[in-house]
Amino acid sequence: MTPIDVHLTPDYAGRALREDVRAGLTADPKWLPPKWFYDARGSDLFEQITRLPEYYPTRAEREILQARAGEVAAITKAHTLVELGSGSSEKTRLLLDGLRDRGTLTTFVPLDVSESALRDAADAINVDYPALEVHGVVGDFTAHLDKLPGDPPRMVAFLGGTIGNLLPSERATFYTSIREVLEPGEWLLLGTDLVKDPATLVAAYDDSAGVTAEFNRNVLRVINRQLGADFDVEAFSHVAIWDAENEWIEMRLRADRAMRVLIPEVHLELDFAEGEVLHTEISAKFHRPGVEAELDTAGFGSAAWWTDSEARFALSLWQAV
Ligand code: SAH
Ligand code: AVI
Repeated sequence: MTPIDVHLTPDYAGRALREDVRAGLTADPKWLPPKWFYDARGSDLFEQITRLPEYYPTRAEREILQARAGEVAAITKAHTLVELGSGSSEKTRLLLDGLRDRGTLTTFVPLDVSESALRDAADAINVDYPALEVHGVVGDFTAHLDKLPGDPPRMVAFLGGTIGNLLPSERATFYTSIREVLEPGEWLLLGTDLVKDPATLVAAYDDSAGVTAEFNRNVLRVINRQLGADFDVEAFSHVAIWDAENEWIEMRLRADRAMRVLIPEVHLELDFAEGEVLHTEISAKFHRPGVEAELDTAGFGSAAWWTDSEARFALSLWQAV
């Protein structure tokens, strides 16, 4: 059995969900943080999204990792790889291979809010990399970064463009908190999706098979199950728009009719007007100078910037100064 530390106990997660639901669903406009998409079904839906023809980020990042994992290993000589928001850790195997071939890696620490995804990934990697110590953490990367095991030099990998799911102010806090847990000379490997034509972006978040719509609605199913709510999930439509000013995709759920929703566990009775939207996720897209400025402010120096052959996605390497 793979050792797993559970920082996000059901008690803690339940409290956090109740607080977020109370704050977000009583606000105007209504909103929910995207981390609640990811129960077992949500994690599975995300994996399906990564295989959709319209959803290019996973394939683009994989292409970069295939080409550059050896260089990442040669530059960093990391002993520990910590992966935040690790999900299935499928692409991460390219990094593990690169570091293993280099002979430096001893420990892999995947961290995710989704316990099912984390356990499946950690167990599979444990089997496939028998010489590696795999130490999983069920945790929130905005709250549990101080509890990372592993010997230096460490590399924190944050792949998939998940950084784009944080608001700019959350991003700044997140970069600073990573910098605080690293020693000077340790590493951050970051995946960022890049600004491109809006049609490509919108299609990636509004696929023709409707998988992203199901993923979006899943947050309502989570609240129904965890908090006894009675959202009529099918009465909400998926919306994905490109916000050109903020340079992010915004996902929303639009009420198809007026409705009242009861959420007994938080004593809420909510009214939705017909057409009212609930904000569920942003997915920010980046330009190189913006990423560099934010990382510089947080105390990181640039070591490398790589893109895929179509310059859709960037993988960048940063060293704590
Ligand atoms: N890194 C993988 C998965 C990306 S999906 C890839 O590149 O394909 C985003 C992942 O982050 C999910 O597995 C989700 O469960 C996790 N996640 C989202 N918010 C989180 C948070 N606040 N703390 C920890 N994990 C989080
Ligand atoms: C996890 N994250 C990077 C995904 C994204 O592209 O923002 C989540 C997602 N939302 C809709 N599709 C995929």
